[in-house]
Amino acid sequence: MPALPNLILVGPMGAGKSTIGRLLATDLSREFLDSDHEIQARCGADIPWIFDVEGEAGFRDRESQMIRELAEREQVVIATGGGAVLREENRRVLRESGTVIYLYTTVNQQLRRTAKDRNRPLLQRDDRRQVLEEMFVLRDPLYRATSDIIVRTDRRGPRAVASDILRRVER
Ligand code: S3P
Repeated sequence: MPALPNLILVGPMGAGKSTIGRLLATDLSREFLDSDHEIQARCGADIPWIFDVEGEAGFRDRESQMIRELAEREQVVIATGGGAVLREENRRVLRESGTVIYLYTTVNQQLRRTAKDRNRPLLQRDDRRQVLEEMFVLRDPLYRATSDIIVRTDRRGPRAVASDILRRVER
């Protein structure tokens, strides 16, 4: 049987991309690469600092560069940041790199999972529900257009979601 292509996780903040990505990588004995983590390691600073100093546009440039590099790798599991699908170039690069999985979740679940978060600059405000709802309207069609598979993560734990993904990609 030919080896599986790269598995690439897209979806909004709090969908479980890092947790589920790590489980998939362990199950498949593959390397797990987290785009946000790699950006921070290269920059030597955390994401709030990058947003503060370089603005969201600066962060998006770093993100596009990192996505190009990670997409060149083979036999890996990649978790992207929630805004990775905003640029057409990123969507194309991700699709060409492997099987793209959209981890779908609801705004209510996002609010619960990101309640105490201090590391996501776009959520450091009082109207988080409105921010997330507006993001959903803009981004849900982009996640759908980019992905091969859509999996809900709001009704089951990460272990069940990862097993479901494996069943679907190994078919
Ligand atoms: C962002 C999501 C974050 C991170 C940055 C911007 C977004 O990643 O890339 O804060 O625009 O949705 P996670 O989806 O891993 O939280």
